Amino acid sequence: MGYIGSHTAVLLVQAGHQVHIYDNLCNSNASTLERIQRITSRDIGFTEGDVRNTEKLADVLRNEKIDAVIHLAGLKAVGESSQKPIEYYANNVQGSISLIQAMQSAGLSTLVFSSSATVYGDPVYLPYDEDHPTKPTNPYGRNKLQVEEMLRDLSVSDQAWRIACLRYFNPVGAHESGLIGEDPNGIPNNLMPVIGQVVSGKLAALNIFGDDYDTPDGTGKRDYIHVMDLAEGHLAALTWLEANPGCHIFNLGSGDSFSVLDLLRHFEEASGQSIPYQAVGRRPGDLPEYYAKADKAAKLLGWKTKQSLSDICESAWLWIKHSQNN
Ligand code: UD1
Repeated sequence: MGYIGSHTAVLLVQAGHQVHIYDNLCNSNASTLERIQRITSRDIGFTEGDVRNTEKLADVLRNEKIDAVIHLAGLKAVGESSQKPIEYYANNVQGSISLIQAMQSAGLSTLVFSSSATVYGDPVYLPYDEDHPTKPTNPYGRNKLQVEEMLRDLSVSDQAWRIACLRYFNPVGAHESGLIGEDPNGIPNNLMPVIGQVVSGKLAALNIFGDDYDTPDGTGKRDYIHVMDLAEGHLAALTWLEANPGCHIFNLGSGDSFSVLDLLRHFEEASGQSIPYQAVGRRPGDLPEYYAKADKAAKLLGWKTKQSLSDICESAWLWIKHSQNN
């Protein structure tokens, strides 16, 4: 019931699927369930549990008559993954092994895995396509890659498996209702939640991490993707897997990149607020630019992003306003 899971659940329910959410709430809030139910006007099943509790998970898969799993139960803070690597390996890698064992025990073999463009590491060329070499530079990225590799081995060993590994670029924005959005615990690291804290007065200014990159305005460029477009990518992958066994990798990005200042300007326009900012030093580990070649998803899944940077900022602003009043 985190950021991506909550938006994907809404879309799946609206597309006619029955959804059951399994979450230990370590980085999410139980009130999100009620919001998903409000948006969809449907009851959504929920079990509080840890992904590493294989037996509990297997029981839920069996009792709820689940036929496919979307695995988003990962810790995702890149900086934290370097400070607490074992916690990350335990949750992200061991957690995935536990999920696969639970699925095997319940006789399930359709899985969509939440991976990340972080698996590519420093670009050898851009845009990254799915064949770009993988060399992640932090434990979080290595967790994602190890799980992908494990899933590939699994699909070779047992041809019943149907697996899609979705390499997300930078998910941002919120559901159009303004009822759900990104709500990280503690101090946010990612750009949009930081902008949210500046506009709500919790932070005095946005620190721009580097304005001396070799990009048109000197700030870092990223492939921002609306979280509802991302949700549609999960639905498209699930549908496609029905006819396609094996383990498949897809980039989910827009194929375009925008700078920090581009995002800031679009947000200012969408919100009518001015965002104070200052350029500070580069953040260690940041890349000047990266973006997706998203042709494979377009060709095979029939999926591509529909929402613009303005749509992204308008929806994020709606969510921020809504959270301020609640
Ligand atoms: C990070 C993760 C990536 C993860 C993604 C989730 C790394 C190396 N990668 O990507 O694995 O999937 O978040 O969206 O951390 N920026 C500022 N000031 C801020 C925050 C960010 O200037 O306070 C800049 C960054 O330097 C970067 C851009 O904004 O140029 C986007 O940063 P961020 O949202 O943290 O995402 P990534 O670092 O691209």
